[in-house]
Amino acid sequence: MKIKKAEFVISNTDVRKCPKADMPEYAFVGRSNVGKSSLINMLLERKKLAKTSQSPGKTLLINHFLINKEWYLVDLPGYGYAKVSKSKREEIANIINKYVNNRSNLYCLFVLIDIRHSPQKIDLEFMEWLGQNKVPFTIIFTKADKLKKTKLEDSIENYKTSLLKSWEEIPEYFVSSSTSKAGREEILEYIEKLNK
Ligand code: GTP
Ligand code: MG
Repeated sequence: MKIKKAEFVISNTDVRKCPKADMPEYAFVGRSNVGKSSLINMLLERKKLAKTSQSPGKTLLINHFLINKEWYLVDLPGYGYAKVSKSKREEIANIINKYVNNRSNLYCLFVLIDIRHSPQKIDLEFMEWLGQNKVPFTIIFTKADKLKKTKLEDSIENYKTSLLKSWEEIPEYFVSSSTSKAGREEILEYIEKLNK
């Protein structure tokens, strides 16, 4: 799919204030610093459309981007950042949970996982919660450029093994890098198919 137009629409903390749910929508969720905003910029080939940062906790709002005037991409705040207060963490979790459970046009939620780390409880629990709430999701392993090929393959296999402890089947997944652009074509093609 060609990205002809990518426009920022609105930021807010309340799912009720999001744009009218009249177009297909895809949101990016995951731990703080996993690379959600960077991946959005990479997919859209816009360097600074979504705000990124080396320190976690950059995105604190629900950010809507309108693509090709046909569908929305959504950058969500990261969950689980340990260095903010418990109440702030709960507030962010609340924003994410309400968004995920109440957005009727959410075609697919992309759950981002940093492939350099061993499976984290917070991500596995989040995906289980999605399953319980019948929210369709797809995994994107991020920062693939940071691992050598064999290490990357091992990490993916290890993650699959861990998923199989709670899932009968491995959810669909992609492997990406915002620096090498790995995964770009595949993810855009996947969105294009779902849009139809
Ligand atoms: P929050 O908004 O804080 O939740 O973070 P985020 O998930 O949006 O992460 P962000 O895109 O801001 O990236 C965090 C850091 O990781 C930045 O320093 C990025 O440059 C870096 N980063 C993101 N994706 C990649 C990647 O694919 N490869 C490499 N090498 N670095 C990446
Ligand atoms: Mg971000």
